[in-house]
Amino acid sequence: MASVSTTRSVVLKRQTAQSGPVLDDFAIEEIAVPAPQPGQLVVRNAYMSVDPSMRGRLEPTEKVYTTNFVPGQPLDGSAIGIVVESTVDSIPVGAAVRHRLGWREHAVVDAAAVTVHDPAVAPLNQWLGVLGQTGFTAYAGLLRTAEFKADDAVFVSAAAGAVGSMVGQFAKLLGASRVVGSAGGEAKCRVLVDELGFDDAFDYRAGPAAEGLKRVAPDGIDVYFDNVGGEQLIAALDALHVNGRVALCGMISNFDPDNPRYDIGKLIAAVLKRLTLRGFIVRDHEDMRPDFETRVSGWLRDGRLVSKDTIYDGIEHAVEALFGVMSGANMGKMLVRLDAGQ
Ligand SMILES: NC(=O)c1ccc[n+]([C@@H]2O[C@H](COP(=O)([O-])OP(=O)(O)OC[C@H]3O[C@@H](n4cnc5c(N)ncnc54)[C@H](OP(=O)(O)O)[C@@H]3O)[C@@H](O)[C@H]2O)c1
Repeated sequence: MASVSTTRSVVLKRQTAQSGPVLDDFAIEEIAVPAPQPGQLVVRNAYMSVDPSMRGRLEPTEKVYTTNFVPGQPLDGSAIGIVVESTVDSIPVGAAVRHRLGWREHAVVDAAAVTVHDPAVAPLNQWLGVLGQTGFTAYAGLLRTAEFKADDAVFVSAAAGAVGSMVGQFAKLLGASRVVGSAGGEAKCRVLVDELGFDDAFDYRAGPAAEGLKRVAPDGIDVYFDNVGGEQLIAALDALHVNGRVALCGMISNFDPDNPRYDIGKLIAAVLKRLTLRGFIVRDHEDMRPDFETRVSGWLRDGRLVSKDTIYDGIEHAVEALFGVMSGANMGKMLVRLDAGQ
């Protein structure tokens, strides 16, 4: 038996209906913490990541790039915490490790599957956001998928979110000629311009995306970093210059069953303007991670990059945080603090 015998976790009671999850689809339950086997660690989770991609994993439909959650079992996802019991000399008690067993307060993990982080380089929460998978998604998607180069004019949607807020700032730091974004609500748009250095932003909920984009990027764009799909993707196809590039990162607007579906015929713009539209999954780009961590931690240290988090406190608010990231309750990275002492 480990030093703790049970831990609180968020368990999926049943797969969600097409219309979306409801609070009653989840429960907080005590689950057993098994004794760590040789090569394993017991971790007290400090923070866990809350990601839009979890929404699809709640449904019964099979996914092509990941696994669905299983009714009766705890959810999972990125988390960072402190080792409280170790069977491995190289990762002692007290080390900070990132791993995949979030949505519970304690986790037993294979040492081979964790990444050890130095809290002196950045606080624990930042290893899940700006220096974690969402910051890395922005970096790989912008530099490799969209083939960003200095002087490009860039548009990013969901620009106030974890990925989007980094795409805009990275593009600016790397010499974009203009960076514009879209977000839900005037307040978020103001933060983009006043605090994150975007040149302009529009509220996609206030009117047609095509009009908003035309207003903030009257001379058009070279790169569109697409976090949302739907109406904003169509607007970007129209605004892109000849030989423009689109990084297809996510399509969060598709989760809304009330959203209209768009005519694939609009893709004729890609033919006429010789556009490149390329989808990507961040885990295919691990070779870029050392360069990403060095560069981005340097920007953070120099105060050239602003990292914003929205933090919900306690595992009992974790499901609320999941609903929140889907509806735009977050500015920057959505996290849940699982250990009040952190
Ligand atoms: N390809 C990959 O490997 C990869 C990896 C990580 C993430 N992603 C994708 O990247 C995107 C951003 O992820 P994230 O973790 O950074 O989340 P996020 O942007 O921090 O949070 C999601 C945001 O989406 C916006 N949103 C919700 N419904 C929307 C709608 N119908 N239309 C437009 N915007 C909507 C909300 O902001 P507003 O208030 O602005 O509406 C919300 O804050 C997601 O699509 C995600 O699936 C892809």
